[in-house]
Amino acid sequence: MSSRITQAVIPVAGLGTRMLPATKSQPKEMLPIGTKPVVQYVVEELESCGVTRVLFVTGKTKSSIENHFDADIELRRALEISGKQDLLDALKFESIGASFYYIRQRAQRGLGDAVSYAEDFTRNEPFIVGLGDSIMIKENGGPGIVQRLCETFETRDAAAAIAFQEVPRENVSKYGIAMPAQEGDVFRLEDIVEKPSVADAPSNLAVTARYVFGPEIFQALREIPPGKGGEIQLTDAVRLLIRKGRPVYGVKLSPGERRLDIGNFTSYFKGFIEVVLKDPVYGAEMRRYAAGLLKQLEG
Ligand code: UTP
Repeated sequence: MSSRITQAVIPVAGLGTRMLPATKSQPKEMLPIGTKPVVQYVVEELESCGVTRVLFVTGKTKSSIENHFDADIELRRALEISGKQDLLDALKFESIGASFYYIRQRAQRGLGDAVSYAEDFTRNEPFIVGLGDSIMIKENGGPGIVQRLCETFETRDAAAAIAFQEVPRENVSKYGIAMPAQEGDVFRLEDIVEKPSVADAPSNLAVTARYVFGPEIFQALREIPPGKGGEIQLTDAVRLLIRKGRPVYGVKLSPGERRLDIGNFTSYFKGFIEVVLKDPVYGAEMRRYAAGLLKQLEG
């Protein structure tokens, strides 16, 4: 079943302080994972789910994201003249069918605040939110997490559908954590808690970078006060929807799915290494190189 949800919002305005100095003057969403910047993976994932309109919520130091998705006619001409077909192929993403829109978040007041900038764009219709600093890896068949979120949202007449992944218990205080109403891969949310202590965490199911919302999220975002760190937290708005009795569902990543979070150096390095070692062109050589290096380091 293909979804009628064809619009998506990609927040990319965050300061990325956990990745300084790399992110001082360039967006973390433009850091490469293998041969492509992170945000290109996100756009390609959304396009493959049938998204035709994409709004980037951007901020200062983020203009390279806009440049990346522009068609660069001069560069193409230069590559054509020099007959560099392989490099022209690397620019194929420029002809992605979706339309791109951009809006500036005026101050970095949190993810919830960034999403609130999408109200006019979404025209009172449901929309996907895909964090611009997170890639979804999928190593199994069947529909991906965004398609499953859309399907859950539509068939259950939900106010929101949110992706969750299981995390080690000791890591719960880094995430929004679910209190599921029942077991299963799709569950109604009884509550959601932003960054709980290990003792207070209602589960080890962590919010994971992909969401589908109906338009009522915007009213909830207006109603909530600033939360942790003085920021408008998306999780707090979701919690308000739940408290109002609105149906909010969680969908678990399947065993073949994983999120690569590019928000801190450890997970960025892990993501980069994994993608490069598995790369169809460079992987074999990089695996040999890594094996030799490990031997040398351990020896
Ligand atoms: P993070 O929670 O990782 O925050 O954002 P951050 O500000 O980018 O990074 P740190 O904590 O300073 O290291 C998750 C996603 O939400 C976007 C980010 O760009 C990222 O894609 N975001 C965050 C916004 O668009 N605006 C904000 O005010 C905050």
